[in-house]
Amino acid sequence: MKKVTIITSSLRDNSNSNALAERFAEGAREKGNTVEIISLKTNRITACMGCASCQIHGECVIKDKLNEILDKVIDSDVLVFASPTYYYSISGTLKNFIDRTFAKFTKIKNKDFYYIGSCTDTNKEAIDRCVETIKGFLDCVDNVTIKGIVYGTGLTDVGDAKYSEAYKEAYEMGKEV
Ligand SMILES: Cc1cc2nc3c(=O)[nH]c(=O)nc-3n(C[C@H](O)[C@H](O)[C@H](O)COP(=O)(O)O)c2cc1C
Repeated sequence: MKKVTIITSSLRDNSNSNALAERFAEGAREKGNTVEIISLKTNRITACMGCASCQIHGECVIKDKLNEILDKVIDSDVLVFASPTYYYSISGTLKNFIDRTFAKFTKIKNKDFYYIGSCTDTNKEAIDRCVETIKGFLDCVDNVTIKGIVYGTGLTDVGDAKYSEAYKEAYEMGKEV
């Protein structure tokens, strides 16, 4: 059985990407995996200052939950990022988190990776463009491989996700981790 860490990054209530992430988690839990969803709405992570102090001390100097969250990410077998699409990229909230992994990115290794995206656009390419941004991060860590993408396309208003094909796909993908 695997340890699954899901990072959600939408800041709105009843968010579509969060709903898809929760559905993914249900599938994964049903198969006996240990799943933790870490919300960047309740654990606000500020932007990296670029001081590189972490490269000397091994931990980020900013006093938020980053160091604690990173330890959970490092300890997991499966890493999942969930994000709304903002201007055909990931949310700034998720990008801030990714930038802050600089503190320990060399320890993030040997994981299966999944991306869960939501957007208004009905074209899957909109989500693929977000994944391209994530690939910049994946290129810098060791053996973290994309295993699946949940395409939450055609989702605009809160609550849309629950009636979508992506909702079913998230559950099925969660069962396969
Ligand atoms: C600032 C902002 C920018 C957005 N940019 C895009 C976009 O470029 N393409 C798109 O298809 N949808 C865009 N959307 C719509 C959201 O991606 C969509 O409503 C999504 O379902 C929100 O996910 P959430 O409920 O998890 O926050 C944008 C929404 C906001 C608020």
